[in-house]
Amino acid sequence: MKRSLFFLASLQMMAYPVLGETKVPGPTAVEAPGSESALIVFLVVVFLITMAGLALWLFGNSNHLEKLADRADENAESWISRHLQDFDEQQLDLLIKRRGTRQGQQGNQGKGATWKKPFLLFLFLSSGLTAFAQSGEASGNVWTNPGVLITVTLILIPILIAIYIVAVKVSHLVRKVRTSQIRKNAQKLARSIDELAGEELTQELTKRRQALRFRLSDTELSGVQAPEDKRGLLHHIAEVDSPRFIAPKKKAVKRPDIDPTLAKLILWYLGTATFWLVLGTSVGEYLGIKFVAPDADHVSWLSFGRLRPVHTNMVFWGWSSLAMIGLGYYVVSTVSNTVVASLKRGWYGLVLINASVLAGSLSLMAGINNGGGEYREYIWPIMLLFAIGLVITLVNYLQTIARRKTKEIYISNWYIVSAVMFTIVIALVGYLPFWQNGLGESIAQGYYMHQGVGMWFMLFNLGLIYYFLPQQLNTPIYSYSLGILAFWTQILFYTLIGTHHFIFSAIPWWLQTVAIIGSMGMLIPVFAGTTNFLMTFRGNFHKIGSSYTLPFYLVGIIFYFTGSFQGTAEAFRSANLYWHFTDFTTAHSHLTMYGIIAFMLWAAIYTLVPRLTGKEPKQAWVGAHFWMALLGLLFYTIPLMIGGTLKGMAWLEGKPFIDSVVLMAPYWLWRAIGGTLMWAAHLIFAYNLYYMIASKTQGDLQKAVFAELEKLPVNPINQ
Ligand code: HEM
Ligand code: HEM
Repeated sequence: MKRSLFFLASLQMMAYPVLGETKVPGPTAVEAPGSESALIVFLVVVFLITMAGLALWLFGNSNHLEKLADRADENAESWISRHLQDFDEQQLDLLIKRRGTRQGQQGNQGKGATWKKPFLLFLFLSSGLTAFAQSGEASGNVWTNPGVLITVTLILIPILIAIYIVAVKVSHLVRKVRTSQIRKNAQKLARSIDELAGEELTQELTKRRQALRFRLSDTELSGVQAPEDKRGLLHHIAEVDSPRFIAPKKKAVKRPDIDPTLAKLILWYLGTATFWLVLGTSVGEYLGIKFVAPDADHVSWLSFGRLRPVHTNMVFWGWSSLAMIGLGYYVVSTVSNTVVASLKRGWYGLVLINASVLAGSLSLMAGINNGGGEYREYIWPIMLLFAIGLVITLVNYLQTIARRKTKEIYISNWYIVSAVMFTIVIALVGYLPFWQNGLGESIAQGYYMHQGVGMWFMLFNLGLIYYFLPQQLNTPIYSYSLGILAFWTQILFYTLIGTHHFIFSAIPWWLQTVAIIGSMGMLIPVFAGTTNFLMTFRGNFHKIGSSYTLPFYLVGIIFYFTGSFQGTAEAFRSANLYWHFTDFTTAHSHLTMYGIIAFMLWAAIYTLVPRLTGKEPKQAWVGAHFWMALLGLLFYTIPLMIGGTLKGMAWLEGKPFIDSVVLMAPYWLWRAIGGTLMWAAHLIFAYNLYYMIASKTQGDLQKAVFAELEKLPVNPINQ
């Protein structure tokens, strides 16, 4: 019954697009000519569905009545005993007393009347059909006539009122019938119980009364014994007694066999990455404030135009890239079951990339830049440092994989190594001088920009997730084949879509179309990847509650799906017309670079660092980091999406530019608020990392106890 009503409600929802579609302005008409007839169709559909819903409801009720009556037909004994179960203690007392004073005879069960479906239902339905017949077929222009429309509406009003009244009456009738049925059943039951003979029944009733008198001692689950875990499966078994403010999460399993020199290298990558995250987003925060207070300063080094690329490059090459490469060193060697080919090269890469970000940021602030497109504002000698760092990393990763002790190359390494290879190609395309002229430069810029986000950050992070997620869930990845499908389709489509950044530009129309089609094709790897991750999660969702890392994974996966899907939508010409040049793109870039990349990196960092150092972060602080980052991101992006859309609409309506600036003011304020939350979350994250690496407060109690025991003389009692 409920399902049918739901189905009808869905049908009713389906009627709305009928109305919605015709509202789209046609090429010439401002008002859609078909909207009135659509309104009629809509009303008729709503009307019919409402009636069908009522009919179903009545049908369901009649079924219920039938069931009530049917029960009276069932075997008399089971019928009575079923009802006896429902009596409370007092009622049973009365009954037993009564049986003690009077022995009745066995009564006979009479057959109750069976209910037929109310013929009202038929009547009601027929009245509905009549109404439908009366509404007739929409023909020609008559239905677009306002007079006819008003008349139809006026007719519909009393019909709907009539339906309502009939419904109320019928429901009243049903209630009456039901009450009388209950009364009848009650009489019959009372008589039957009274007439039933036998000691057995009295015993049964007494047993039932005893059962009802039973009271729990409140120690059934906890027991009276002190908690004990003989098999060593539970941690902190006695903790339930202590007052709790934060749900305790599972601790990371210690991995004492990790090479401390590798751990040190990785921690340096992560530490410097976090430094750039805090600094880069402090710059972003300041930029966000500048939208609200543009005159905050008049220093050229701090001007918006200079600081914006400082922010983007710092979070791209400083934060995300360094964190990825550091985590990559762990994953590449672990899944190859071997040691990193050369730690020394790892250090070179670290120094080169850090030097590149430091020099790049200072030069950008000083006004020295590449003059070209986004994310390649560093001048070429500075970017060369980064590129050399990448080449060194690639060689190191490849050599490590070549020495692997496993037969297969695990899928993570496919993704990670390809990401580094693609990025070297991208850097060449973005910087080799002979492609940097005229329109070709724009095409190269589109290629560079989107391969940067798609083939560097996304591909690499997917590689990390293919290792860390199954490991955290203690479950194998759902499907290796889906991972391979996503890998190849990502390579196929992502490399084609760069030009979607320049829809409606002078770049050949066909090339723009290829980019749009490629953007649609991206749905394949995105669906494949998301399905794979969520199916790996399947059956493990309950673990989220007891883990401080899994929420980060889940958020990353969800944004992977929604952020990428949003990108596909943005690529369509009809949508890009509104959104391009607006803050909507900024919302998309943060939903993806922050929602996907940063969240996935945090997930992996919180997973790995406690294993490297043996020190857990404080759970409350990880929770604060998670929620502030997530809420901040939502406060940041949702207003920008709304404001960006309104801004695009205002431009298309030909409103003055300054109007759109005024329009955006409250949305920018929200962005500043969201940004502040995100920024504060990064400070907390930096503290958590520090705590996991350098805190001295977290001594290992167990180790300390044994150290103390060593110092004590051996107790003669134990000898
Ligand atoms: C199916 C996947 C995706 C598609 C089809 C897509 C599509 C787009 C489109 C059409 C734009 C340009 C909007 C405009 O300027 O009008 C854009 C911008 C952007 N996207 Fe995506 N996107 C996808 C996934 C991602 C991912 C995974 C990331 C990051 C990891 C990302 C980061 C960005 C960034 C940073 C920009 C801003 C570029 C700029 O500065 O102009 N996108 N995306
Ligand atoms: C506290 C956190 C952050 C704040 C307050 C912030 C703020 C900003 C601001 C104000 C802009 C300039 C937008 C414009 O020109 O309209 C910007 C651009 C950008 N930021 Fe952030 N940001 C933050 C974190 C991040 C992170 C962590 C990433 C990546 C890992 C990132 C990636 C970007 C990108 C790609 C752009 C260029 C957007 C585009 O052109 O579409 N941001 N950010």
